[in-house]
Amino acid sequence: MKTGSIDPIQAAHLRNLEDEEIGTSHRILNYYLPLFRDFCKSRELDPREVRILDCGCGGGASVEYLANAGFQALGIDIARFRSEQWKERGRLPQVAFVQADAVSLPFANESFEIVLSSGMLEHIGVAEECQPRYRVKPLADQKSRRRKFLAECLRVLRSRGVLYIDHPNGSFPVDFWHNDYRSRPRLHWPGERFLPSFTEVCQLVRDVDPNCMVAPISPAGRFTFRRSQRRWYGKLLSAPIEFYFQLLRHEPFRGFAGSPLNPYLVIRIERRAT
Ligand SMILES: C[S@@+](CC[C@H](N)C(=O)[O-])C[C@H]1O[C@@H](n2cnc3c(N)ncnc32)[C@H](O)[C@@H]1O
Repeated sequence: MKTGSIDPIQAAHLRNLEDEEIGTSHRILNYYLPLFRDFCKSRELDPREVRILDCGCGGGASVEYLANAGFQALGIDIARFRSEQWKERGRLPQVAFVQADAVSLPFANESFEIVLSSGMLEHIGVAEECQPRYRVKPLADQKSRRRKFLAECLRVLRSRGVLYIDHPNGSFPVDFWHNDYRSRPRLHWPGERFLPSFTEVCQLVRDVDPNCMVAPISPAGRFTFRRSQRRWYGKLLSAPIEFYFQLLRHEPFRGFAGSPLNPYLVIRIERRAT
């Protein structure tokens, strides 16, 4: 994409959309699809019978990749501009998009075997400003909105279904994902009340359904590091960080996946049979 002749903020926005598209392809094809196929195998399900909801699906590429892999895939997002991006998709019959708020999902109970929500939980219950500097403020009802969102994801999930949530870790002090158009890493602290920690997510899920199994998993293979590699720290740190993520897949390091030593949380939540 040629971005040289437009102002830097607009150029950054276009670059972010392009990064999102490439990041989504990598995240779904290399990270989530293998997990979803394992899920089907363990439940003896044919992917064609498995319905997946992507909550906060952004441009919708995830939904198309999941449908191409044989799943029935549906994406929702609250932002109106996303429906413009969706127009180019949806050629497959098993693809669908709905503009909706994830805090109030327009689906019947137990409609999906798998629910996915990438990089969205942190955006619930906050007011954000992106330009010229990234600024975020918690809303008074943040906790109840986040609880409602998790309650909705679990409500539309079938018994023994799985919900995957991922987002930057609130208990890790550096945020590489939310920043100004120059993509500088941001220092943050729990008092900011923006990025959720693993403990907070566990507590919210327990409030909704104490029987759910909640486990952090390693983000190994989830990232392309494309955006961070434009900066010195990304060039220097992306290979060691990916190596560290690989370690988090194995004992005795597995426990670090939900700890303050992991910059990005991926959380698997399973609804137990009722
Ligand atoms: C950081 S983007 C992530 C997009 C995509 N999941 C990805 O990982 O590339 C967050 C998305 O969540 C959407 N979003 C934020 N709050 C939402 C809500 N309450 N309901 C539905 N979508 C929401 C935004 O519009 C945005 O598209």
